[in-house]
Amino acid sequence: MEAKQVLEAIAAEVRVCEQCKLFSSRKHSVPGEGPANAEIMFIGEGPGFYENEQGRPFVGAAGKFLSELLAGIHLKREEVFIANVVKCRPPGNRDPEPDELEACDKYLERQIATINPHLIVTLGRISMGKFFPDARISSIHGQARWVKDRLVVAMYHPAAALHQPALRPTLENDFKKLPGYVEESKKKHSPAAARPEEKKPADDQEPTQLSLF
Ligand code: URA
Ligand code: SF4
Repeated sequence: MEAKQVLEAIAAEVRVCEQCKLFSSRKHSVPGEGPANAEIMFIGEGPGFYENEQGRPFVGAAGKFLSELLAGIHLKREEVFIANVVKCRPPGNRDPEPDELEACDKYLERQIATINPHLIVTLGRISMGKFFPDARISSIHGQARWVKDRLVVAMYHPAAALHQPALRPTLENDFKKLPGYVEESKKKHSPAAARPEEKKPADDQEPTQLSLF
């Protein structure tokens, strides 16, 4: 299977998933979207009100700001992959709970393995916790670090900057570093490496390793 088809298959599973309690209150799950060969993958927290209505990630106010931040570094949202750590909206936009994060992580892991991006950007404290469980966002935002063989950088959530205008220039500055990080990653990281689902028939997959929660 080609990477695009693998992503579509993952999305189809997410749309009917009932593997954690968030399924019962969702309207639409939000698998994520973007090109299968995206160089940068953004990982947010979870769908909010508008995302739950539309089944698409970052379509509300935070999404508009994300698009502006991308435009500031000459990228369109169609050129990056945008996903979340949980694919269904937590009621009232509460934080996702540990059992929900763990249940949903397999989809995100499969998306990462399929896209194999040069750079992962986490948006906000919750998705930072997947890669840097003990870090403080105020200390590490904007700094790219190798996690296994992949470059990951934590950023403040765009929604946080809408509530705290002082974070806006911080986010803009951190975004300006992304093209350089992609170039740094390209020197070390080969996108032709593991894309396990492309090589295996669908019923012969090894279980995806749960990571870090
Ligand atoms: N906030 C997120 O973390 N994800 C979305 O998809 C929308 C808003
Ligand atoms: Fe399934 Fe994830 Fe939705 Fe929970 S949040 S029901 S694990 S898709």
